[in-house]
Amino acid sequence: MIINIEWADDSLKIIDQTKLPGKLTIRKLSCVEEVFEAIGKLRVRGAPALGIAGAFGLYLGLRNKRPTSRQNFLIQARSIASYLSESRPTAVNLQWALQEILDSISRSKKSNPEHLLNLVLEQAKLLLQDDINRCENISKHGIDLFKHRLTVLTHCNTGALATAGMGTALGIIFNAAQQGKIDKVLVDETRPLLQGARLTMWELDYHKIPAVLISDNMAAYAMQREMVDMVLVGADRIAANGDVANKIGTYSLAVLAEHHGIPFYVAAPLSTFDHSVPSGEFIPIEERDPSEITRIWNKLEISVPGAKSWNPAFDVTPAKFVSGIITEQGILFPPFEKSIKQLNYQVYQNQEELK
Ligand code: MRU
Repeated sequence: MIINIEWADDSLKIIDQTKLPGKLTIRKLSCVEEVFEAIGKLRVRGAPALGIAGAFGLYLGLRNKRPTSRQNFLIQARSIASYLSESRPTAVNLQWALQEILDSISRSKKSNPEHLLNLVLEQAKLLLQDDINRCENISKHGIDLFKHRLTVLTHCNTGALATAGMGTALGIIFNAAQQGKIDKVLVDETRPLLQGARLTMWELDYHKIPAVLISDNMAAYAMQREMVDMVLVGADRIAANGDVANKIGTYSLAVLAEHHGIPFYVAAPLSTFDHSVPSGEFIPIEERDPSEITRIWNKLEISVPGAKSWNPAFDVTPAKFVSGIITEQGILFPPFEKSIKQLNYQVYQNQEELK
């Protein structure tokens, strides 16, 4: 199995995804600033993995600051969490994980800052294990959608490189492939940062799953030629009404799928649902450096000197285009306002540490 993110040798170790597929480089992060930089530059990326990186980043920040009282510990923790949550705004998993840890500090009766620091590290480790479990359960539920061998179209990267476990949408594909239910995977290259071409193709190749890379603008033609049985993608944030924010280009796939009568499924853990936003229009959409558009992979200039460009990193797919959302608790179907409300959010708690 690919291990994308782990706590080892007193530091956070990640696969540096900016080096893939050319090189498999492990990067060691030893302070909160390094975690912030790695998130911003997409060395670590994908909604669930951002949550895990943020959790360990909070620990690293507190470890270096060495607060001397419980009150000071809480103040420092809130300030580091707010710094980290600004690294990338769209994936709610980052804020979710940071809030989980802040809540566990507040609930804890401990007053010794050393003990609180240990608590934060233990909570971060639990979140990592928790994500592994969530991914596994998503893949188990997702398999119910594969009544026979299918060709699946996917976008961006939702595999081991985007989580602490086997992935969400891609995790389902791995599980389906093991059971002989994948004919092939069509992989959108995912401009501008090429997560499909660089990362998803790398993971599918690693698992020896038949994959065909297409450029994003080929999806309509592939659907028209009946080459796609299902679209399966991940999510960065899901609003209370089922609107889904995910990598730019997801919305076009959903509209195309609707037009061609192809099911469009989203896979995401409960940490990706945000009940504080009633619908997608309230989800903050990250806008990245315009030079990511005027260059190919930050290298080759492809436009005129000084060309203006626009670079929203995500879009929002309205719930009406979503056939179902695969979670660790089962598959949700429309109407999503109702099915999302019925989820059980009593997840992850380290009772022992709270005593
Ligand atoms: O900008 P990225 O690469 O972090 O975007 C990632 C995505 O859009 C994924 O589809 C999403 O985070 C789900 S990952 C399981």
